[in-house]
Amino acid sequence: MAIPSRDDVSIVPRPFVVRDRVVETGDTVSLDLVPVGGGPVPEFAPGQFNMLSPFGAGEVAISISGSDEERGSWTHTVRSAGKVTDRLTRLPPGATLGVRGPYGVGWPLASARDHDLLIVAGGLGLPPLRPAIRRILAHRTEYGRVEIVYGARTPSDLVFSSEIQRWRLRDDLRFQTTVDAAGRDWYGDVGLVTARIPDARFDPARTQVWACGPEIMMKAVAQAAIARGVPPAAIYLSMERNMKCAVGWCGHCQFGPEFVCRDGPVLPYPALAPWLAVREV
Ligand SMILES: Cc1cc2nc3c(=O)[nH]c(=O)nc-3n(C[C@H](O)[C@H](O)[C@H](O)COP(=O)(O)OP(=O)(O)OC[C@H]3O[C@@H](n4cnc5c(N)ncnc54)[C@H](O)[C@@H]3O)c2cc1C
Ligand code: FES
Repeated sequence: MAIPSRDDVSIVPRPFVVRDRVVETGDTVSLDLVPVGGGPVPEFAPGQFNMLSPFGAGEVAISISGSDEERGSWTHTVRSAGKVTDRLTRLPPGATLGVRGPYGVGWPLASARDHDLLIVAGGLGLPPLRPAIRRILAHRTEYGRVEIVYGARTPSDLVFSSEIQRWRLRDDLRFQTTVDAAGRDWYGDVGLVTARIPDARFDPARTQVWACGPEIMMKAVAQAAIARGVPPAAIYLSMERNMKCAVGWCGHCQFGPEFVCRDGPVLPYPALAPWLAVREV
């Protein structure tokens, strides 16, 4: 991504309004956002993020978890983790906020064509992957086998429950859900997402692995995929770092030599591996 100049309009927040608000879990909502005054939302690549600013509270990076081109909206799925995200999760329909973006490099959909895909999401790692999954399903014949593993702490922490049920029923995709702990009415697995990798069906030589979630989970997924014979360069992880400018100026999001906002958030594993081993990078 080219670094914008300081008078570039792409870094100026635009006013958006919350059109719909869907409660996903006890601490997570999806907000459907449209520009104040109407008009289309800019195109985005699955895996990109926007900077959202509930007025007076600050600004945070939030992935685009969906879009509706016909209705001109962006969806963002937000978990209340602190001051700004808490304000976002409380915004009612009709509230306005600032939005700038989209920013960053997303999932490598083009190079994944004709490959098998192993997609692993942990916790709130599913929202940044959902636009890519929808894109793959809309062009299903262009990809090989698709295995998706989604892990959460408990069944009540799973987001997008009705869409997950539809994905689980498809016969051109294997979608597995696993949780750390569950009651007797749970339909999925119990255990770590990595436990599902040894028997996932893919041809390691022609597979891409995409993972999004806690860093410790993504590192374990990468190691499990490599153990199955997937080349490290075919593994992509979506990184989270504290962001300020989101366009490669301030260095807040630096991870080793990479700026997560500009070079990522989706980065190939070989660029991350030396730094994932080092705490506090
Ligand atoms: C590219 C990108 C995409 C993201 N997508 C989403 C998303 O789709 N949905 C969502 O809910 N959140 C997402 N986040 C995380 C979100 O930006 C942070 O939770 C948010 O910045 C926290 O701000 P706060 O003021 O609410 O909380 P704070 O009070 O600033 O922080 C709350 C806690 O979260 C930690 N924290 C803050 N920012 C980050 C961060 N970037 N990475 C890891 N830990 C952090 C803090 O150390 C603290 O422990 C994304 C972050 C990035 C970089
Ligand atoms: S957030 Fe400023 S360089 Fe990435």
